[in-house]
Amino acid sequence: MAASASDLVETDYLVLGSGIAGLSFAIDAATHGKVTIVTKKAISDTNTNWAQGGVAAVLASDDSFEQHVADTLTVGDGLCDRAVVEGVVAEGPAAVEKLLALGTHLDRAPDGHLDLTREGGHSRRRVVHHEDISGREIQRALVAAVRANPNITILEDHIAVDLLSMAKYGGDAACFGAYVLDRASGLVKTVVSRATVLATGGAGKVYVYTSNPDVATGDGIAMAYRIGAVVSNLEFVQFHPTVLYHPHAKSFLISEALRGEGGKLRLATGERFMDGYHERAELGPRDVVARAIDNELKKSGADSVFLDMTHLPPDFVKHRFPNIGERCLELGIDITRQPIPVVPAAHYMCGGVKTDEHGQTTIKNLYAIGECSMTGLHGACRLASNSLLEGMVYARRAAAHVRTAAALRPTTVIPWQSGEATDSNDAIVVALNWDEIRRFMWSYVGIVRSDKRIDRARRRIELLREEIREYYWNFKITSDVIELRNLALVAHLIIESARRRKESRGLHYTVDYPHKSDSVHDTDIHLTNGPAA
Ligand code: SIN
Repeated sequence: MAASASDLVETDYLVLGSGIAGLSFAIDAATHGKVTIVTKKAISDTNTNWAQGGVAAVLASDDSFEQHVADTLTVGDGLCDRAVVEGVVAEGPAAVEKLLALGTHLDRAPDGHLDLTREGGHSRRRVVHHEDISGREIQRALVAAVRANPNITILEDHIAVDLLSMAKYGGDAACFGAYVLDRASGLVKTVVSRATVLATGGAGKVYVYTSNPDVATGDGIAMAYRIGAVVSNLEFVQFHPTVLYHPHAKSFLISEALRGEGGKLRLATGERFMDGYHERAELGPRDVVARAIDNELKKSGADSVFLDMTHLPPDFVKHRFPNIGERCLELGIDITRQPIPVVPAAHYMCGGVKTDEHGQTTIKNLYAIGECSMTGLHGACRLASNSLLEGMVYARRAAAHVRTAAALRPTTVIPWQSGEATDSNDAIVVALNWDEIRRFMWSYVGIVRSDKRIDRARRRIELLREEIREYYWNFKITSDVIELRNLALVAHLIIESARRRKESRGLHYTVDYPHKSDSVHDTDIHLTNGPAA
């Protein structure tokens, strides 16, 4: 049966996701083709929108590309691809220019130059920002540009179910679009494209404590894996050291820029502790700071440590961090007078769908850009504020490269088959499975790992995935079930990647192999050497 005209959408470029990478790609690609953006909720429900820090770029007179490259390589702990790092760093100033050209408001110092802040792992001030809501401002500017572009169609409240692959039609693995669920109507559309771009962001929701919004369920990584793409380095989950600890605050990040501007980490006793863990103390690499906090919490049994800004001039703190100050004040914490209770939480996936320098995956006509990708920039740990930069750089490169994509599609496209199509009333099953995964991932595959814990997680995820599979094929598809299926697969891939890395490096720390091994490699997983799709 062919897809009917009403549910078949044809476009040159299909973009899944609407954060900095997806929107930047759309703006560039719309100069030479029709772009359709599919986004799960509203266009600004993205990780980008929640980013506080900013964009790292070499702009100061005391800075250099070599220094930015060196900082990225140091934090990446031996796993970054140097050529990739050099290429991305070199494009930093142009990326900032582009943001300004799009009308993004970036803070300026009194002398009129862009204000540069500092974050962990950076040896210089090099992060451009807008107050402490950089992501929201960047998202605003990009959304305005895509909404004004007649070559871009935006499908909000639409979620991709699966990618379309020529392999299903007897050809080689090549992607020609996706099945997409319209959440409002329940209709699954068949979107056919010349090139498909995954810009679906991260997978923080795999963990019970995360700085990420609810949309971060690893959809792009799971879908790419299911059609045979190589995914890589998924064991490197970055835990941000400082997320607000408060019963009424969900996932509220306390930006590293607070430490960059002089904030100190303290125990409940008031004692500082980071000097004992790293020479840069509070500004050490994120993996070191997160593990130090985790260790102090385990030693003391306390619920949180504290980030103290009270020694800094109150006017400076209020002016530089208005959003964080306001949110904390709503919860009864005046950050100019009281230390902020903080804990680590899952923040960023350093691994993802493996790509080349154009953002092209190992599947023809399928690209991955932004957090869902693994380009070689971050290695075993990401340098703060390198990610928005990476999103822009690879969006630009992919938009140039998709022009070369030769359309590959079957003459007749099979429409989505809905199985038994029974309406599911059993939302509780989805909620319970989701909760269970997130809790055991936190306990067993979190900041500190061991073989035993990883094996426990592996047994549990296999059982749960079996249950989810049954549920998926027997009931009418919903966005909750799509997300749960993706989340469970990504959890499995993280577990599998962690199981294969028999060393401690960057963000992967296991008590069974506490040192680095000599064999430096990426953890590449694909259908023929990894878990079932
Ligand atoms: C932060 O503001 O601490 C987050 C910046 C980042 O993750 O790059």
